[in-house]
Amino acid sequence: MNPSDLLTPLEIGSCRIPNRLIAAPMAGISDLPYRAILKSFGAGLTFSEMVSAEALVRGHRKTRGILQRAEGENPFGIQIFGGNADSMAETARRLEAEGLCDLIDINLGCPVKKVMRSGAGAALMMDRERLFAVVEGVVGAVALPVTVKLRACKTPGEMTGLDVIPGLFSLGVKAVSLHARCVSWSFSHPPEWSWIKAASFLGRPLIGNGGVSSPEDATEMFTKTGCDGVMIARGYLGNPWIFRQIRQLLEKGAYDPVSLDERFEVMKRHLNLSLEVFGERQGIFRMRKHLAWYVRGMPLNSEFRRRVNEIHLPMELFREMDNYHDMLKARSGK
Ligand SMILES: Cc1cc2nc3c(=O)[nH]c(=O)nc-3n(C[C@H](O)[C@H](O)[C@H](O)COP(=O)(O)O)c2cc1C
Repeated sequence: MNPSDLLTPLEIGSCRIPNRLIAAPMAGISDLPYRAILKSFGAGLTFSEMVSAEALVRGHRKTRGILQRAEGENPFGIQIFGGNADSMAETARRLEAEGLCDLIDINLGCPVKKVMRSGAGAALMMDRERLFAVVEGVVGAVALPVTVKLRACKTPGEMTGLDVIPGLFSLGVKAVSLHARCVSWSFSHPPEWSWIKAASFLGRPLIGNGGVSSPEDATEMFTKTGCDGVMIARGYLGNPWIFRQIRQLLEKGAYDPVSLDERFEVMKRHLNLSLEVFGERQGIFRMRKHLAWYVRGMPLNSEFRRRVNEIHLPMELFREMDNYHDMLKARSGK
């Protein structure tokens, strides 16, 4: 494939993704406000934060809040996790019945102990019999495309994740996202992209994930591994522009840096959305980490972060952002 094929549509079952740039599910981060921002910069497919099937079946209020799609967020995938085939299938059925999403993704990669202890996430990937029962149940419960996201293996010596890929496709899974790290590796460990290449021979569409933090990384992963789409996670933190920049790189051979004015305009748009969706208290709380990411690498950012963490009122937060913006402009002489 040519690098520019990243901008062409991708079919995942009945779901047509307008380009092959995918925003990863991220707990506590890929919420409605931020997904709306990511979408506005060109993410072809966005995913909810992972949501517990057990909590959904019980009708947990906070969990239901995760499921709302942003205006115009189409296609949108909801990622579910759980170790019980019946509740996973029931959850999928409800998501489809309520028209909440365009595809359903099963989390098979989460290494968090609490999740794994319940037999979900990466623990499910390592228990082949139960894994296939869960996947078969979910696929059989809905007409929507079902996808999975997994890691390549538990430890470098074996290939549990890769081994199950053909079986997942034969059960009717419509795409696999492969995070090119072991379950035992920390997020700071360099990813092993050769596993993405190997996986792409086992079933398609195969979406590569792990270590994409710049537009150049995205095109490199796509061309080196032969994957069908590139999924970005930490590379979009405080940097929704990465999706636009990838497009610019492919269309013009270079991309525009983000101006200070645009950066602060987007920060404010994001804050407004966060307040609208979560209310004052939660909206401000949820924005704190995002604001820290938006100003990463900027002069005196630790002082800005410290002040932001002490603010509880929207007006004050907007004022603080304006002050910091003005200070940065004055320093840069613009
Ligand atoms: C804070 C955080 C939250 C995450 N939440 C999820 C999640 O809800 N579902 C999921 O499948 N992966 C989750 N991941 C994993 C990412 O989607 C992605 O696979 C991983 O960060 C590797 O990609 P990257 O190197 O581009 O960051 C999370 C990762 C982080 C750091």
